[in-house]
Amino acid sequence: MILLEVSGMTKQFGGLRAVDSLDLSIEKGQIFGLIGPNGAGKSTAFNCIAGAFAPTAGVITFNNEKINGQKPWDLCKKGLARTFQIVKPFASKSVLYNVMVASFVTTNSRSVAEEKAIKVLESLSFSDKKDILSGNLTIADRKRLEIARALATEPKLLLLDEVMAGLRPAEVDDMVQVLKTIRDQGTTIFVIEHIMRAIMALSDRIVVIQFGKKIAEGTPKEIANNENVIKAYLGEDYAVA
Ligand SMILES: Nc1ncnc2c1ncn2[C@@H]1O[C@H](COP(=O)(O)OP(=O)(O)OP(=O)(O)O)[C@@H](O)[C@H]1O
Ligand SMILES: [Mg+2]
Repeated sequence: MILLEVSGMTKQFGGLRAVDSLDLSIEKGQIFGLIGPNGAGKSTAFNCIAGAFAPTAGVITFNNEKINGQKPWDLCKKGLARTFQIVKPFASKSVLYNVMVASFVTTNSRSVAEEKAIKVLESLSFSDKKDILSGNLTIADRKRLEIARALATEPKLLLLDEVMAGLRPAEVDDMVQVLKTIRDQGTTIFVIEHIMRAIMALSDRIVVIQFGKKIAEGTPKEIANNENVIKAYLGEDYAVA
């Protein structure tokens, strides 16, 4: 079943076409990667899908419903959650409080929200830090909190914008495992990432964009060996057997 379908999606900022007639479709249960050089239009594509911007043209279909121009909070209730490239938790509040705020998307009860938040923290091996103030977390833990907040809304589709940026190699490996577990528990994942080792290990399929346009699509292996992708983004040393 196709969970997300983007067709001819374009986002124009004045004279700049940040996303240019983008087509892609994501099957339920996939981990789907989006890569490309800085400024390629990746975050803008996410912003259009998650409702932060209405696309200038094109159709976005989520769970068989056209969602163009719907607001982020409505989309979130329908099961489309995202993280932000720049993480901004409520710094003076605890980890648990931050996750509970997100749980209220699916319940009005404080005790249920707390129960759900604790479950999410457990699933991310994060419960031991539930009482720490978010402003005191390390970068790796802030990223984990960002994912926890998105997961607490119980999404069908999770959009992750560079959740591994700034992590050490061992932390990247942990995050790859965390994301695989989230997928195995039933959440489809759409991920933007610059760390190739991670995106290659995670993705079932990858789309590459440059200047807002799709330049390649395929399995990680196909992408790693695609000449256009090597020229535009990966560099000559990257090609793998
Ligand atoms: N709100 C905005 N108003 C005007 N221009 C914007 C806006 N948001 C993004 N852009 C421009 O659109 C282009 C695509 O930006 P975007 O942030 O989507 O790239 P990206 O692929 O996410 O890059 P990075 O890998 O650096 O995060 C850039 O030229 C950027 O300057
Ligand atoms: Mg970006």
